[in-house]
Amino acid sequence: MAEDVEKTDIELEGVSSATMAKLKKAGLSTYESIAVTPSREIEELTGMGADTAQKVMQLARVKVDLGFIPATQVLEKRMHMLKCNTGSPDLNRILGGGIETDAITELIGEFGSGKTQICFTLSVLAQLPVDQGGFGSKVCVIDTEGTFLPERIKQIAEARGLDSNTILQNVLVARAYNSEHQTILIKNLPQIVHEHNAKLVIVDSMIGHFRGEFIGRGTLSDRQQKIGSCLAALLRVAEAFSLAVVLTNQVQAKPDTSYGDPNKPTGGHVMAHACTHRVYLRKGKENTRIATIIDSPYLPEEKARFGVDAAGVVGCEQ
Ligand code: GTP
Ligand code: MG
Repeated sequence: MAEDVEKTDIELEGVSSATMAKLKKAGLSTYESIAVTPSREIEELTGMGADTAQKVMQLARVKVDLGFIPATQVLEKRMHMLKCNTGSPDLNRILGGGIETDAITELIGEFGSGKTQICFTLSVLAQLPVDQGGFGSKVCVIDTEGTFLPERIKQIAEARGLDSNTILQNVLVARAYNSEHQTILIKNLPQIVHEHNAKLVIVDSMIGHFRGEFIGRGTLSDRQQKIGSCLAALLRVAEAFSLAVVLTNQVQAKPDTSYGDPNKPTGGHVMAHACTHRVYLRKGKENTRIATIIDSPYLPEEKARFGVDAAGVVGCEQ
């Protein structure tokens, strides 16, 4: 059995099996994940020397052919990107079809705005087959606030006529107790998503621990650098494994606002730049929620209204 654990599925010419085992143990178990990880990070994760790290990264890059390709091929790849149903047709519409793979979607909003409810619903709906709006895969969840409730997942699955036991079985949850723990879980994602073929990764919430632990201006650059490194790792996972990453983020009051919404997302520019699509959520009339796309490379700034009930996120007919 021990041998099985050590064995790696991939090979790089001229690289010893001991080195390959170190890579696998560090969660770098595919050519893609090695190719897209900076060699300095490979060194840190595996404890191997700089030359070896550089060599394995370059060899892995040759395997996955990371170079220039015609834009037609990029378009072809993008046309095959999957979109996961959120439970609300209107929210899907403003997201260009749903939660997209190869990208990070950030859900921003104050407490009770529906961030975690969207995460619960996606954890169920992503498991449905592709022709039913899902990814047909397992889901990985990093829960930093202890708010990820299996009972709610069960309720959502049952309200949708699904077998809640199977659904719960396929949601892999890790509770992150502090920012360092969260960082380790994120850096280990390549191994987990590869092993379980997960197509959706959720981090609820991304910034909470960092905000709580790095207090005072003197710690700001350290904090932002650490958040940035986590976000870069998440984007690499999204692209290397063609999966969707969904992050939640709270808002903080801006003291200097004289008009408009006085709340802004936490995490500053690092968060703003790393996330592909940013969705701002707020409470609407009669227990509805309003989502607005606030920053996306190609989605227009549109609004959608959705509801939350026993089935999780649902449409809300006006
Ligand atoms: P924070 O994590 O505190 O920042 O908030 P959040 O944005 O994650 O809030 P969350 O998604 O947990 O939304 C909570 C709200 O969802 C509650 O206040 C309820 O209005 C609604 N909600 C949660 N569960 C149910 C349910 O079973 N039925 C209905 N109708 N609404 C629910
Ligand atoms: Mg929440």
